[in-house]
Amino acid sequence: MAKITLSLIKADIGSIGGHIKPSSKLIESICSFLKKQAKGVFLDFYVGFTGDDIAILSVHKKGPLNEKVHKICWDAFKKGTEIAKAQGLYGAGQDLLKEAFAGNVKGMGPAVAEIEFEERPAEPFLIFAADKTDPGAFNLPLYLSFADPMNTPGLILSPIIKKGFRFRIIDVSYTKADKIIELEAPEDLYDLAALLRDTERFVIEGIFSRATGEQVVSVSTTRLHNIAGKYVGKDDPVMIVRTQKNFPATGEILASFSIAHYVAGFMRGSHIGPLIPVKKNSPISYFDGPPQVSCLAFCVKRGKLTEPADAFDHPYWEWVRDEAARKAQEIRRQGFFGPAMLPMSELEYTGVVETLNELEKKFKIRKKK
Ligand code: F6R
Ligand code: MG
Ligand code: MG
Repeated sequence: MAKITLSLIKADIGSIGGHIKPSSKLIESICSFLKKQAKGVFLDFYVGFTGDDIAILSVHKKGPLNEKVHKICWDAFKKGTEIAKAQGLYGAGQDLLKEAFAGNVKGMGPAVAEIEFEERPAEPFLIFAADKTDPGAFNLPLYLSFADPMNTPGLILSPIIKKGFRFRIIDVSYTKADKIIELEAPEDLYDLAALLRDTERFVIEGIFSRATGEQVVSVSTTRLHNIAGKYVGKDDPVMIVRTQKNFPATGEILASFSIAHYVAGFMRGSHIGPLIPVKKNSPISYFDGPPQVSCLAFCVKRGKLTEPADAFDHPYWEWVRDEAARKAQEIRRQGFFGPAMLPMSELEYTGVVETLNELEKKFKIRKKK
């Protein structure tokens, strides 16, 4: 059985009423483009949205970073941008940061997560898409899912899962090349924690089974401001997670999102808010957020996808959503003070920095008496 590749590529190419959601016409244009143009390349595909971001999931046999696959998605987003512009959508084409296509879309604006693998007899996997946050938002749920038996009993129950996982982490502040480190759980747990706490700098890019060597997780790690040289929106990430058997169970992965942990990216990409797990195709609302994450579960057989199961569409998650709303209220009560707002280096606008520069001139050093 030849290997298949899952490619999850997402971009914000325009949305209705600010940063709420793409228009139906925009989604339809992408789907009809792919139906024609992806024939013979994609074995199957699925298109959905989370907040203002459109994600294309494709299945193919061409491996990661494949020029044909990436070009089709790039062209679909280009085509969609024409519709977005024609409809006057907000931020039309905003994540397409380069003019000419150069081999693959990595570093051109869209977020990319890809895994190549040999299909298991049953191949369940999850796709996550988050809006109004950045890739570091997945650090905590992935740490809990793959390194903490308090979340994942499979780590003590299954002799294979017990062998642990290898985490590949990227330092996204280094822009000259990819700067990566690999750490293994459970032995390197404290080093792992020391890196993963810094979600704006160290981001999990991939996770591998130590028992079989297989890749289990792939996360997009784009930093849009590193590409554009200035802030052009948050780096709303996507992630693929394979589940069950030798990997954590779907429910263990989902459980790690119960905390609705605080992440960067609320209002103007400059505030902290709880990551609220939402149903598929959910819009954005309160305070341009809260930062949200969707999860669709699939199975794939010989390259053909099932329909998605909406993993956060269950009464349990209504309670988590209530908790997240409460957490959002709590942090919003203190407005721009302290940890409610991001540090200077992460603000999406330059206003505060410019103000400080102006005020710096007015500061006086008090003379010692
Ligand atoms: C992410 C997103 C935000 C915006 C930010 C600034 O999807 O939409 O990060 O980029 O809120 O938006 P503007 O420039 O419209 O104020
Ligand atoms: Mg946006
Ligand atoms: Mg977005």
